[in-house]
Amino acid sequence: MARIAYLECTKCGARISADQPQTVCPKDGGVLFVRYDLAELKRTFPASSLFGRTPTMWRYAEVMPEAEPVSLGEGFTPLLQSREYPNVYVKDEGLNPTASFKARGMSAAVTMAKAYGLKKLAAPSAGNAGAALAAYAAAAGIEAHVFMPKDVPLANRVECESYGAKVTFVDGLISDCARMVAERKEAEGWFDVSTLKEPFRVEGKKTMGYEVAEQVGWRMPQGIIYPAGGGVGLIGMWKAFEEMQELGWIGAERPQMVAVQAAGCAPIPKAWDEGKTTADAWANAETVAAGLRVPKPYGDYLILDILRKSGGLALAVTDEEIMDALRQWARVEGIFAAPEGAAALAAYRKLRANGFFGADDPVVLFNTGSGLKYLDAIEAAKTGARRRPAARQLAGIIGPY
Ligand SMILES: Cc1ncc(COP(=O)(O)O)c(C=O)c1O
Ligand SMILES: [Zn+2]
Repeated sequence: MARIAYLECTKCGARISADQPQTVCPKDGGVLFVRYDLAELKRTFPASSLFGRTPTMWRYAEVMPEAEPVSLGEGFTPLLQSREYPNVYVKDEGLNPTASFKARGMSAAVTMAKAYGLKKLAAPSAGNAGAALAAYAAAAGIEAHVFMPKDVPLANRVECESYGAKVTFVDGLISDCARMVAERKEAEGWFDVSTLKEPFRVEGKKTMGYEVAEQVGWRMPQGIIYPAGGGVGLIGMWKAFEEMQELGWIGAERPQMVAVQAAGCAPIPKAWDEGKTTADAWANAETVAAGLRVPKPYGDYLILDILRKSGGLALAVTDEEIMDALRQWARVEGIFAAPEGAAALAAYRKLRANGFFGADDPVVLFNTGSGLKYLDAIEAAKTGARRRPAARQLAGIIGPY
């Protein structure tokens, strides 16, 4: 792992070796970022060297941890010009393996787990991260233990089991799943790949920032709207922009970063409105956008800092606005978005209406997953029924724990 210079705590700046698997900063629990020798890379890694490289996120190999990638072809997703708003571009992450952007983070995390010789990985998941972990672990020949709320969309459950993961359905939210992983990991010998509790999922997700810049010709869009659960993509993209500046690929300009959450679980917009630097845990989280049901993002301090530094903001949209945007995207653009992705369109509509973004501002909206993974939730929303608790219907197979 020669290319990693060190891991750096995002709270206290402590430098930690990457020779052994690491989780968070031992002093303060801060998220660890992977650092490379960018000054050296500035001489040897010009943007022009990307020409003709593999159309996956591993095309940015020099700024990725050095290990044999566990790849299923993730990344380099299309950036589609909107038909409704010609100034808007949709980064369609639904085209990734396992049909969501979670593939990027898990490809990087499982790559490093394999390089470290880890044999058992565990993660709490709102659904898609578990499916991605299950797929990459299968490809790497590593055990995956996934903890998901029992009412995740049906596709997530079926996928995880098909990939051979050990799945536990939890009567609760992702925060309850995280607690169960934390309680059991030592006795079980699991390495915890929870969001932001190991350094490499950010490295995978940061490639979205490299791709947006490359796909628009190394210019920064005016804004990026990102549906934030734990916020890893937003945090990763910001890291990518800083790295690209150090590499000399872009200047100091940055997009206005917008975090959108669901009105039924909006800890970041609430903290933003109250001018806080961290978020309070959200009680009774509920939304059709399962990936946004994260009551207390671990990297809240990073997300809020990025929103502030970029001149962006956080806002919430209702499930009705999400479903309306989902249908609109499908009918007008031919893009069948995940509800989380549709939240980005719902947010854009609001920010156009209130003048935050003008008609000529280039804005990138992240569709973070495919609507095909949410057929049950989308059908239920159509008829006004409550979301079907897919796992509960199959009560006999809840377990194995
Ligand atoms: C489709 C989709 N979009 C967005 C998110 C939120 O991602 P993050 O936790 O990286 O902010 C998730 C998380 O599960 C998701 O599955
Ligand atoms: Zn620290």
